[in-house]
Amino acid sequence: MKGLILSGGKGTRLYPLTYTCAKQLVPIANKPVLFRVIEAIKEAGITDIGIVVGDTAAEIKEAVGDGSRWEVNITYIPQEAPLGLAHAVKIAQDFLGEERFVMFLGDNVIQGGISGLVKQFESNDYNCQIVLTRVAHPQQYGVAVLKNGAVVRLVEKPRDPPSNLALVGIYMFDHHVFEAVNNIRPSWRNELEITDAIQYLVDHGYKVYPYIHEGWWIDTGAPGDMLDANRLVLDELQPKVEGYVDRDSKLIGKVTIQKGAEIIGSVIRGPAIIGEETRIVNSYIGPFTSIYHHVVVEKSEIEHSIVLEHSRIIDIPQRIENSLIGRNVEIVRSPLLPKAYKMTLGDHSKVGLL
Ligand code: TTP
Repeated sequence: MKGLILSGGKGTRLYPLTYTCAKQLVPIANKPVLFRVIEAIKEAGITDIGIVVGDTAAEIKEAVGDGSRWEVNITYIPQEAPLGLAHAVKIAQDFLGEERFVMFLGDNVIQGGISGLVKQFESNDYNCQIVLTRVAHPQQYGVAVLKNGAVVRLVEKPRDPPSNLALVGIYMFDHHVFEAVNNIRPSWRNELEITDAIQYLVDHGYKVYPYIHEGWWIDTGAPGDMLDANRLVLDELQPKVEGYVDRDSKLIGKVTIQKGAEIIGSVIRGPAIIGEETRIVNSYIGPFTSIYHHVVVEKSEIEHSIVLEHSRIIDIPQRIENSLIGRNVEIVRSPLLPKAYKMTLGDHSKVGLL
């Protein structure tokens, strides 16, 4: 089998972070979501992986390279615009050929990986198998209707949901999917929809079956989802201390300190991760917090947050919570008069003041 990862798209819901950074490269527990996807595919025994890339192609290629770090072969497939998930399949036909494949959205995180479902697809003669999970609000998802164990209908964001089984961003196909993606028409939002392609398979007598996923699954499209994914992944991380922790500091619970990090006079309450070469001085880092590499936190308190590389948070009197802080950001006290908030914020930034 081959793997196909979708890493094009615009990431508008994660602005301003994704103005300058591919959303698939935003780290969850200090590891980019896309790396987690590659690792899950590799773990399922698949080493031939295509990555569909768009405007952020250069950044993704720079971060992932040829895949040798994971002992996989990566082929990049450029998509001229985000014309839909089924469009991404269409342009990957040369790469995929006649082989069966698993398609994984590059911004999704799933508990427990995909080995179980890949194994099931490999041992059946299904033309397509889609991963479904039970959700509380099916109105917000693509929803599947099953009959006698098979998928018979897909409905996008139904007002009156026919089931609570939502589509997760992982799909398995054989080459018949190309017949589907070459025959469907763009939707009202001008995208070739994967749900339409799957419905085409059902309507033309192909075998489409579900795989019900029981653990958690997160589509990290929006800031709240990022923090949720960070919380869930941190909770499962095996703690490891590879950096320096001075005698006045205290690590409580599951805390990972990466190489070259320094913890001075601080309290870190896990689950939390502190990245390489980051300095935490006289501060409190609370549960569900990921601080990436080369960050400085001094005389401040932060919890349930993600802080990206090279940012500085210094001498902030109130605790920072539920925050997603980008790269090279400075949050510092300004001693210069007049006493006022002084900010340089990019488009779509959000600041919550007390
Ligand atoms: P989406 O989250 O549906 O789209 P998006 O990335 O454009 O985000 P936003 O809605 O915030 O603007 O995409 C899911 C994944 O699939 C994501 O990793 C991007 C990728 N993708 C493609 O590679 N090609 C496409 O044509 C589309 C629509 C998405």
